[in-house]
Amino acid sequence: MPEQVALDFLGELRRTHNCGELRASDAGRRAVLMGWVHRRRDHGGVLFVNLRDREGVTQIVFKADGDPEVHAKADQLSAEYVIAVEGPVELRTKETINPTLATGEVEVVAEKLWILNVSRTPPFPMEETVDVKEDARLKYRYVDLRRPQMQRNIILRSKLAFSVRETLTNMGFLEIETPFMGKSTPEGARDYLVPSRVNPGCFYALPQSPQIYKQLLMISGFEKYFQIVRCFRDEDLRADRQPEFTQIDLEMSFPQQERIYETIEPMIGAACKVAGFTVPAKFPRLTYEQAMRSYGIDKPDLRIPPFHCVEDLFAGQNLTPDGLPLVAILIPKVGTVTRSERDAMKAFGSERGLRVYDDAKRLERDFPEPMAAVRKRTGAGEEDLLLLAGWAGEASSGKPLGKRPEETVLMACGQLRLHAAQKYAERHKLLDPRNFQFLWVVDFPMFEWDEEEGRWNAAHHPFTSVHDEDIDKLTSDPARCRAKSYDLVLNGVELGSGSIRIHRRDVQSKVFSALSYSEEEARKRFGFLLEALEFGAPPHGGIALGLDRLVMILAGETSIRDVIPFPKTAKGTDLMSDAPSEVPERQLRELGITLRKS
Ligand code: AMO
Repeated sequence: MPEQVALDFLGELRRTHNCGELRASDAGRRAVLMGWVHRRRDHGGVLFVNLRDREGVTQIVFKADGDPEVHAKADQLSAEYVIAVEGPVELRTKETINPTLATGEVEVVAEKLWILNVSRTPPFPMEETVDVKEDARLKYRYVDLRRPQMQRNIILRSKLAFSVRETLTNMGFLEIETPFMGKSTPEGARDYLVPSRVNPGCFYALPQSPQIYKQLLMISGFEKYFQIVRCFRDEDLRADRQPEFTQIDLEMSFPQQERIYETIEPMIGAACKVAGFTVPAKFPRLTYEQAMRSYGIDKPDLRIPPFHCVEDLFAGQNLTPDGLPLVAILIPKVGTVTRSERDAMKAFGSERGLRVYDDAKRLERDFPEPMAAVRKRTGAGEEDLLLLAGWAGEASSGKPLGKRPEETVLMACGQLRLHAAQKYAERHKLLDPRNFQFLWVVDFPMFEWDEEEGRWNAAHHPFTSVHDEDIDKLTSDPARCRAKSYDLVLNGVELGSGSIRIHRRDVQSKVFSALSYSEEEARKRFGFLLEALEFGAPPHGGIALGLDRLVMILAGETSIRDVIPFPKTAKGTDLMSDAPSEVPERQLRELGITLRKS
């Protein structure tokens, strides 16, 4: 602990300004500022303190000829002490103006000083430029959150949430809460379970999303619902995933897909404006099939050019098995590629079942006419990286082609395209984080084949409507059923997902049976929803966007942990509080839980 410091009470003392507020026009006024000692310098008896609060930094000066008692107190100040100062605002001399600070033209001459609290030496410096290990940041999160970058992110988060509330409320949406302690909602992850003490052996599931409740609210006649709501999913964590995260969740009655887009586009536009960016009023759209054919992924990053299928130009040349795509990938302005870089690219493709033709010069020698056509189709120039990729065959990679073979190849090519773009990002400068490319991807397949279980799963969730013209294929040809579903994508990140829901009991039953749920199982898991559909359910649909992901991208961060005040590590732990932790035996006993020793 620091040496003995006489601490003061706040008493009736009142702040007049924050630390980011004072300007040259305030010179001559008196100010009372409060905050943290950001830095302290001693210039031969004149003490300078950079005082910080959430709004900024102001220079405080303790002059050599000032009150000796105040000076002696100021001598005791150290980093992160909490203080209040009072004195006149003075203009700095021309030479001492700090143009990097908003308050840089002035300083407060401290005539009075209150030390409100001391601080241990902080675990890491507060400066933006200092790179601190994330474990330390998470352990001392309350200190980490004082750093300007984190303050900016969390403040932006609050402003974005406010903007979303404002836009949706102005559009007639009602913010309605739904339970956290409920029954499992199927969103593809595992549930976090909460044991019930008064119902031994029974568990609540924390919501993976409010999906079922928001549908029930439509059946209840609220017509336009939204909620900025915490969701809980026990799944493998990545940079853009947390076990508890926040959705901007909404649902409306009587919508077509267009009505959802018309709601989300202005809402996102307003949020971007808050973050200081302008985005187009309407976002482009691609069907899932187009996205696959041009990008090999259902969340294309439009900052990188699409690839092109060119198998038609190489007919009979055996570059790819008949009936499967041959893909030309173009990454602009890459310049020279070394032998080892090329080998690495080939190896990356080969691990995914692809044969990569990386030597454009050689291809041009062997296939002059088709390659001229490839250059024309892709627009590839001499400085651009041009790769061809086709299926190498199951034998070479051990990867099966699956139920949708063309898609399997396109997806592998999509990964290669992204890999190449990321590898040469420095050279081509395409991946500018301030270039926001929103996109709707629509008409997803209704079902995904689960190789392990040998059954169809819902690609979105089991309450999603099938396209009217595909309804007859629900059981005869599930692979070709398209869903009335849509994703909002931003720079290659899935920002949101939604769909028009099934509002008819008979159709919901058909979809459950296509998903191989028995009537019994469906009734057990979702009986209350099925029953509700029998009481006049209106057509309805909605969407949920990841608030954390939106803030992450608009803040220019690459991890959602940097926009969540108290996030979990990749192992789902909280390094600060040590959660999750063991609980006393007595608590387990009350819950009727015995732990199995393994
Ligand atoms: P979905 O499961 O696609 O849809 O989730 C919607 C959006 O929530 C965000 N998200 C996450 N963000 C951080 N960490 C996670 N673990 C995480 N999981 C999801 C993503 C995603 O796009 N009920 C449906 C929506 C609907 O149909 O209306 C749903 O939850 O940004």
